Amino acid sequence: MALSRPSLQQTSPNRVLVVDDQEVVCEVLSALLRREGFLVEAVHDGAAALARLDAMNAAQTPFDVAVVDKNLPGMSGLRVLEAGKRRHPLIEFVMITGYASFESAVEALSLGAYDYLVKPFIDIKEVAAKLHRAAEKATLARRSEALARDLKAKNAELEVAIAELKRTRAQAIRAARLSALVDAASRIGHELKHPVQSLRARLDAAASSGGLGPHLAAGLGGDLDRLELAVAEFLDFARPRRPEPTPHDLAALATQICRELEPTLSARGVTLTLALEPIERVSIDPRQLGQVVRNLVINASEALAAGGEITVRTRMVEQRVTLAVDDDGPGLSASADDLFTPFFTSKPTGTGLGLAICKKIIEEHRGQIALENRVPRGARALIELPPA
Ligand SMILES: Nc1ncnc2c1ncn2[C@@H]1O[C@H](COP(=O)(O)OP(=O)(O)OP(=O)(O)O)[C@@H](O)[C@H]1O
Ligand SMILES: [Mg+2]
Repeated sequence: MALSRPSLQQTSPNRVLVVDDQEVVCEVLSALLRREGFLVEAVHDGAAALARLDAMNAAQTPFDVAVVDKNLPGMSGLRVLEAGKRRHPLIEFVMITGYASFESAVEALSLGAYDYLVKPFIDIKEVAAKLHRAAEKATLARRSEALARDLKAKNAELEVAIAELKRTRAQAIRAARLSALVDAASRIGHELKHPVQSLRARLDAAASSGGLGPHLAAGLGGDLDRLELAVAEFLDFARPRRPEPTPHDLAALATQICRELEPTLSARGVTLTLALEPIERVSIDPRQLGQVVRNLVINASEALAAGGEITVRTRMVEQRVTLAVDDDGPGLSASADDLFTPFFTSKPTGTGLGLAICKKIIEEHRGQIALENRVPRGARALIELPPA
């Protein structure tokens, strides 16, 4: 959205209202001020003066200066000054006194007058100079008020623009996530199609030949694992479940997951070892933590295309329960931040949701998860949880 342009600066001549009951004073002053470039009007009493000040203000062509005789009949000049200043604080008042009276000048100034003139006007230049100064002050005050108004309006516009931007950004992020999910759905769809077809074909072959050889069984097992994981990841990411934590032995849970995965891994030439130090019980959702351990072990095994070793370790570190999944594969190919980003994958058939889901689950359990390279080779996935 475009912000409005600042208002134009005032360049028109200054307006002066002369208020004096003596016609001759009005005429002399008006002529002098017109010569000085002012737009001048004259009235002869206080009520007329206030009415004129009000009217011009309402018409948005306000007077800059009012030159008011202190000794007006009826409403006195000082009352005009008081009421005028109250209603129109930006108008400057210059009072006319009939004689050089220090007291009356002080009184006028204390009521808000900018300056005063002494009748008769002997020094015309001084009268003109005082009126110019008063007009300049009024102009400056009006400009700074306009600036403040502009600034306030700009701030309000800016706030609206920022709110709009935030909304748009949030919408864009949501839209991007959604489209990534749709993308993942279609990829998973494709991913499911081929393994299912291949499973069907192999099952048919096995059925017609009267049995399943060990190699075939391992292939089928791997395909099924992959399918189950991809479907579970997609569903979990699209509709995350709130954890239902109860105190558990994380080492026992890790042992159970490793037992499940072991046959498939050993068929691929991967050795899975448990190195479990005693740890305190943790308050966890066993299904979710099981999923984390499974994801991390599968990631490690996928890094070991040509076979290798995975070690799952548990131990207490500074009163926190830790579980590490170590492998001796090639190590990490991107920054840990990237690897935890949803849909980041380096695998042709990966969905890139595994680690993002792990992170979400671990954080919901008030824990932390990290990935790092090991020396001399391999990677470590480390989770850390507070004891129950
Ligand atoms: N042990 C590891 N060694 C090397 N790289 C790893 C390891 N674990 C994870 N990665 C890297 O992190 C990336 C993201 O892992 P993540 O589990 O999120 O997705 P994925 O395994 O690619 O796909 P999926 O969603 O099927 O799990 C992997 O593609 C891989 O590049
Ligand atoms: Mg993975």
